[in-house]
Amino acid sequence: MPGYICDDTRKVTTHRFMEMKQRGEKISMLTSYDFTMASIVDGAGIDAILVGDSASNVMAGNPTTLPITVDEMIMYGRSVTRAAKRAMVVIDMPFGSYQANPYDGVQVAIRMMKETGADALKLEGGEEFIDVIRLIINAGIPVMGHLGLMPQSINKYGTYGVRAKNDAEADKLMRDAHLLEEAGCFALVLEKIPATLAARVSREVRIPVIGIGAGSDVDGQVLVVTDMLGMNQGFSPKFLRRYADLHTTITDAVGQYVRDVKSKDFPNEQEQY
Ligand code: KIV
Repeated sequence: MPGYICDDTRKVTTHRFMEMKQRGEKISMLTSYDFTMASIVDGAGIDAILVGDSASNVMAGNPTTLPITVDEMIMYGRSVTRAAKRAMVVIDMPFGSYQANPYDGVQVAIRMMKETGADALKLEGGEEFIDVIRLIINAGIPVMGHLGLMPQSINKYGTYGVRAKNDAEADKLMRDAHLLEEAGCFALVLEKIPATLAARVSREVRIPVIGIGAGSDVDGQVLVVTDMLGMNQGFSPKFLRRYADLHTTITDAVGQYVRDVKSKDFPNEQEQY
């Protein structure tokens, strides 16, 4: 089956993100961390690729996103920008790269943009990090905000459960969403919050709201590519839809290869020089 047929081959920009929200066209976004996957995802018609710090879990096998470094994010980011022809590429600023001091955060942001060729950066947090977000935007770097479940703060919250279920947390999230818009963020990710709250944010802010576990009444959706391709069987949150079962496909293919090598079926005469 071919990828999504997209007549518009122009590069997706922050300006086009806004146009898509204005005309009610939903934005599609997936993570990728390497050249091969990003080439396939871009060629299939995705609007934006997130080089998420979920690379810490998916690529490096860490239990959280906390250990991944700026150098590692730059390496993954560069691999993806080499592949993406149409999709906007957004890279996560990793834990520790902007939380300590806003001025250090801007330096890191500039380095990440220069060394990866990305189109934008994503930072977790609202009011607490508004100074560094403003400085990065003032430096000419588009910023995507991220509220709701913020995996970089897992040790503060102690759970990956649904966020903003009570009024106090929901009110703070609404205030943070408005603050991020006022600061100049071009889009906002909302992770794992009640669908009604996400819909309200999407109605109240002019910038596109991209949801993950935030229901359908937002302006776009993002998923971790290895989760939606069924490569990770141990992760089954309610919001995840699996579009393939690559774990089984790859296991079967590798098992067949092992059997063919052991039985001396591979390589055959046509497969040698
Ligand atoms: O790192 C990541 O993959 C993310 C998405 C889950 C939004 O931030």
